[in-house]
Amino acid sequence: MDEEERKLVVRDIFSTYHKTYDLANRVLSLRRDLAWRRAAVRQMRFRADGRLLDVATGTADLAIMAALAFPDIEVEGVDIALPMLEIGRAKVSRRGLGDRIALAPADALELPYPDGCFDVAAIAFGMRNIPDKARALAEMARVTVAGGQVMVLEMSTELARPIRTPYLFYLRRILPAAGKLVAGDDAAYVYLAESIARHPGPEAFAEIMRAAGLAEIAVRRLTWGAAYLHIGTVIRPAPAARAAP
Ligand SMILES: C[S@@+](CC[C@H](N)C(=O)[O-])C[C@H]1O[C@@H](n2cnc3c(N)ncnc32)[C@H](O)[C@@H]1O
Repeated sequence: MDEEERKLVVRDIFSTYHKTYDLANRVLSLRRDLAWRRAAVRQMRFRADGRLLDVATGTADLAIMAALAFPDIEVEGVDIALPMLEIGRAKVSRRGLGDRIALAPADALELPYPDGCFDVAAIAFGMRNIPDKARALAEMARVTVAGGQVMVLEMSTELARPIRTPYLFYLRRILPAAGKLVAGDDAAYVYLAESIARHPGPEAFAEIMRAAGLAEIAVRRLTWGAAYLHIGTVIRPAPAARAAP
């Protein structure tokens, strides 16, 4: 499957399961997804009237949480699955945040923004769905100011040893079986388990961030390693000195 076909498959999965996505997230992660996003929001740093880009925003949970935590910022959220964005828009307007959060369809690999216009570019639980991680990171870095942050929050199977085996059993066996029982279909849960297991481990991912030109990579382990938060700082090479005439 090439990159374009894979993107369409991912878009179809999230377009099909958009109605149950939030509930499934809460139940399957035992509500840890909220704490993990909160951990990311707590690390965000904005200038006055700052701007956040939430890549693969889905139903806008991270965008909303950040807008509530930082009342002066403006947030843009992008995603390739329109039905997810529709649910996100309804949540944004229910919370009266329509003037501060804008959601738009866009691909993480081609962000429709000029260089350096955000203080923070973040992605929560979206990176594992994007095969070309280097390009997504480079795009996030491009649209972020020098000194700004690129944040990646993602689930992982690199757990502390005693709980790794039961967790993998839960992910690969119990989850798809429960999905089939509740939703009559296990495809999304099989995909979920595979995509988490396929995602690079925390050290390997930090290396991909460095290779994408990000500096000072900080890695935070969350809930014994069920999720990791990576934060990189955007650096720009100084402009070449002009030769004397
Ligand atoms: C697991 S959901 C995460 C949603 C949200 N960030 C959250 O915290 O719940 C993954 C999202 O990534 C989106 N996605 C996958 N590939 C993408 C891409 N190339 N560009 C933008 N969004 C993408 C999917 O449509 C889906 O909404």
